[in-house]
Amino acid sequence: MSEVINQEIIPKFALPTGEMIPAIGLGTFGSDRVSPEDVAQAVDGAIRCGYRMIDCAACYGNEHLIGNVIHQVIQEGVVSRKDLFIMSKVWNDMHRDVESACRKSIADLQCDYLDMYFIHWPFPNYHAPHCDVDARNPDSRPFSVEEFMDTYRQCEALVEKGLIRNIGISNLTIPKLEAVLPLMKIHPAACESEFHVCFQQQELLDYLVSHDITPVAYMPLGSPRRPERDIMPEDVVDMDTPAIREIAAAHNCHPALICLKWAHQRGTIPIPFSIHNYTANLKCLTEDPLSQEEMEKIKPLDCNNRLVKGHVFLWPGAKDWHDLWDEDGVIVS
Ligand SMILES: NC(=O)c1ccc[n+]([C@@H]2O[C@H](COP(=O)([O-])OP(=O)(O)OC[C@H]3O[C@@H](n4cnc5c(N)ncnc54)[C@H](OP(=O)(O)O)[C@@H]3O)[C@@H](O)[C@H]2O)c1
Repeated sequence: MSEVINQEIIPKFALPTGEMIPAIGLGTFGSDRVSPEDVAQAVDGAIRCGYRMIDCAACYGNEHLIGNVIHQVIQEGVVSRKDLFIMSKVWNDMHRDVESACRKSIADLQCDYLDMYFIHWPFPNYHAPHCDVDARNPDSRPFSVEEFMDTYRQCEALVEKGLIRNIGISNLTIPKLEAVLPLMKIHPAACESEFHVCFQQQELLDYLVSHDITPVAYMPLGSPRRPERDIMPEDVVDMDTPAIREIAAAHNCHPALICLKWAHQRGTIPIPFSIHNYTANLKCLTEDPLSQEEMEKIKPLDCNNRLVKGHVFLWPGAKDWHDLWDEDGVIVS
């Protein structure tokens, strides 16, 4: 029987509501490389070994199989529904009918309600699964406060209907947050963003923390097997940087575990994807933390290396992918 990590020793994180949630979750995006069946099998193993937070999304194309797993583990008494923290996301083509999308995810995941429902991207720009980096949708358009808030209002209505417990936002920038936060009736509980050693986004992280929004770190390991469309020749491999390798050698563990300890100790919730190493990833947060000196050594590894540049979401007239990220401090429209 594989190892089970004691729930008592898994670190927790307080949501703005005061609710305690696990400090690590399992990612479920197979990156167009891992089959939905294999992802579902990993979710099964991960729940049995002690994961309680699962990061799902409609566009990952595997919620129906993950739902069978959730049904099975609850049926067997491994966990009850309330022990799990199930997250999903509305995909870009459903911004005008969020309730239908949400109901479908709940039905597919067989989970009665969602603990967190994210707006996956802040604009309705759809791209087909498995598309390549040059794919463009002529209907794509820049961010609009009005459109975003219409989508957000629909999420607020879902909270009122009891379909979701918390609203999450994702892939937002500080200028966009500044524009939308004052308009929200229900405070967003979390923001899922790309945060890893070579892309630390300290300013965004500080902003989220100071606004009581829980930072969830996607691609916490630098996503070594991300889709082709997100691989550029100049990208840096986080786990191969000499400092990470050196710290890993000192801790006698894989560099991935150093990245996760660092993500946790700097105050984010990492959601690593794994079909082979999920037990080690969960366990590493329960033992052998990094020293302050090691944390300091990791800071200068930041090289602003955004991996999900988002080319496929560009609208006609956009200059390049930098337009998606408001790098000059104003919303590019
Ligand atoms: N909101 C958004 O827009 C957004 C965008 C991207 C991702 N996400 C979410 O974030 C999750 C994580 O991102 P990601 O899947 O792209 O990348 P990631 O978690 O940074 O990296 C996953 C890769 O790391 C490997 N790995 C995991 N643990 C390891 C270990 N201990 N030792 C060695 N290798 C290890 C995995 O291989 P094995 O399977 O072999 O362990 C897998 O290939 C996604 O699954 C998804 O849920 C959200």
